[in-house]
Amino acid sequence: MPTDSYEITANAKINLFLRVNGTLPNGYHRLYTVMQEIDCADKLTITIDSSRRGFKINCFGRSDIDPEKNLCKKACDRFFSNYKKLKDESFTAPYTEIDLIKNIPSESGMGGGSSDAAAVLVVLQEHFGQPFTEEELLRIAVNVGADVPFFLYGGTCLCEGVGEVIKPVESLAGLGVLIGKPKAGVSTPECFALMDSEEAKPFDMKAYSDYIDSMNTHHRNNSDILEKLLAKREFLINDLEVPAIKLVPEIETLKTAFINAGAEYCCMTGSGSAVFALFENRGDAAAAMEQVKDVPALSGCSLYLAETV
Ligand code: C5P
Repeated sequence: MPTDSYEITANAKINLFLRVNGTLPNGYHRLYTVMQEIDCADKLTITIDSSRRGFKINCFGRSDIDPEKNLCKKACDRFFSNYKKLKDESFTAPYTEIDLIKNIPSESGMGGGSSDAAAVLVVLQEHFGQPFTEEELLRIAVNVGADVPFFLYGGTCLCEGVGEVIKPVESLAGLGVLIGKPKAGVSTPECFALMDSEEAKPFDMKAYSDYIDSMNTHHRNNSDILEKLLAKREFLINDLEVPAIKLVPEIETLKTAFINAGAEYCCMTGSGSAVFALFENRGDAAAAMEQVKDVPALSGCSLYLAETV
């Protein structure tokens, strides 16, 4: 019986801005955010053996990841149960083994687990001959995790709801990105709860929509991208950043260091704790990394260099 092996990379994301727009009946918060793919990536090798049953995941490079709680397992389970319903009730899932090389930091707000899960869905969809429509695959993805659908698109997308309403927008590819990750992560529920205890910042969806439209035009070069993005600096905020800084003060330390090193724009991504800074190109981001790498206040933080995709 055939054994097939697939190699795939899973890129991370940053949230260029993240606004919280009320709560849903299930207690989750409604988001309005632009997600941007970056080339900081995990690597997966997925082996499928239809002559056997079972699942195994090997996480390399990190001892802190519980393979059983990994979203890749959930992605396989959801894909196979939907496949069974769609095709054949007698279907039994093949043996699936995933070698996962983690480079995206966990508890960073960079979507590493979600991106890995999306990569698994893409591979299974290919292996089984594209059984699901795009819409069906998106529905499976959102059941695996709120950030997973974005990674089926990648690039630059406006994401709403809990992340499942996705509109691709004009690419912002090619910008330099410097990322700093404090040792401590931010607890996402704690961060949302702390945000709820504070007064909500005003949010004008029409104004944001006009802003997104203003960026949705052909970009001449990277300087043009930054100019359009920074034209409404007051819109570039993450509503989770203030509560996250209360939980992990190094987030603010990183922001100050990145701004001092010449960042065009700097913000926390997702619910943290990673902070990203944007530059016109990768070279400028690398130069800033050189400047901040020996700053004593950042000694507990990890730095990463990337580019928008
Ligand atoms: O999606 P994730 O499992 O990381 O979410 C963890 C927690 O963060 C949720 O249980 C919820 O309390 C909070 N959350 C939220 N609104 C969102 C995403 C997460 O309130 N859109």
